[in-house]
Amino acid sequence: MKYYKHLDVSIPAFGLGTWKSQKGEVYEAVKQALQIGYRHIDCAPAYTNENEVGKALQEMQDDKIVQRDDLWVTSKLWNNAHKPEDVEGALQKTLTDLRLDHLDLFLIHWPVAFKPEVFFPKSPADYLPLEEVPIRETWQALEECVEKGLTRKIGVCNFSTKKLEDLLAGATVAPMMNQIELHPYLQQQDMLTFCKERNILLTAYSPLGSSDRPKGMKKKDEPSLLTNKVIAGIAEKHQATPAQVLISWALERQTVVIPKSVNAERLQENYAAVELHLEVEDMAAIAQLDIGYRLVDGAFFAAPGSGYTVAGIWDE
Ligand code: A2P
Repeated sequence: MKYYKHLDVSIPAFGLGTWKSQKGEVYEAVKQALQIGYRHIDCAPAYTNENEVGKALQEMQDDKIVQRDDLWVTSKLWNNAHKPEDVEGALQKTLTDLRLDHLDLFLIHWPVAFKPEVFFPKSPADYLPLEEVPIRETWQALEECVEKGLTRKIGVCNFSTKKLEDLLAGATVAPMMNQIELHPYLQQQDMLTFCKERNILLTAYSPLGSSDRPKGMKKKDEPSLLTNKVIAGIAEKHQATPAQVLISWALERQTVVIPKSVNAERLQENYAAVELHLEVEDMAAIAQLDIGYRLVDGAFFAAPGSGYTVAGIWDE
C-alpha cells in the first residue's frame, strides 16, 4: 500500500469508495476489501449505508483481520447539519453507525446548506443560504470536533480554490483534504498546483467515471473513461485494465483515489493498480484528454430560487 505523509499522519493513497454502494452489497464489499488489503474506506451519511459499513468494520476488527489503528476512515458532514450546533451531533451519529469512537478524517461534503429537517431538497425553501450559515462557522465546529478527539483530521469536498482561500484565511486548523472529482476528462491542474503549494491533499472521486450514478444525475452523451481509446491503449501496453490505468494515473499525480466497487473481482483488480506505474509518455498522452468535463456538476443543488447556482458552487 502506498501512503502519503501529511504533518503527523499517514493516509493510505488508495481507498474504497462507498457512494452508490447499495445496502445489502456494501457490507460484503467492505469485508472483501479489507481482506484483500484495503485500509482506507471513504464514507458519508448521504450514502445512507454507513450502518452496513460499520457492521463490516466491526466484524473485521473482531476477527483480527484489521486493527483500528491500521484503518483510515473518512466520513462527511451532510448539507443539513452545517449549523455549528448541529455538527457534533451529526458526527456522533456517523460514529455510532460506523461503530467507531473517532474518524480519521471528517469533511464538509458540499459548500451548500439545507435546513436541518431536509435530507434532499424538494423545493427552494429547503435550502439555507451560506450567508446565514457561513462556512467559517461550520468549520469552527469541525475544529472543536478535532479538539474533542472525535476526528483526527478535518477537510472539505467540492471546494473551489476561492472557497479554500476564504477558509484558510479564517481557519485555526487548516484543511488536510479537498475531495473533488478528478479523472482524465477533468484534470483540474490549477487546483493541484494550488493545493500542493498550501499543503492540502486532494482525493479523486469518480475516478472511473461513476457510470452507476442515478439517471437523474447523468447527462446525455457523457464521455466514457473506461472505453477511451488512449486509456485502453496504455492498458494494453502494460497488460493492465483501463480501470487500473485510471487509478494509477491518479496515484502518479500524488492524489488519493477512491474507486467504488461492490464486486470481488473488481475490488481485487482495483487494488492491484497500486503496483502499476505509468511512464512519462503515458502521463503525457493522458494529459491531452482533459476537456474540463464535470460529471457531478452540482446541478441537483441549483434549482431556480434555491440561491445556489452551478457557477456559484464552483466559482466559475
Ligand atoms: P461495480 O461496483 O459493480 O464494480 P467510480 O469509482 O468512478 O464511482 O465508478 C464506480 C463504477 O465503476 C461502478 O459502476 C463500478 O461497478 C464500476 N467499476 C469499479 N471497478 C471497476 C473496474 N475495475 N472495471 C470496470 N468497472 C468498474
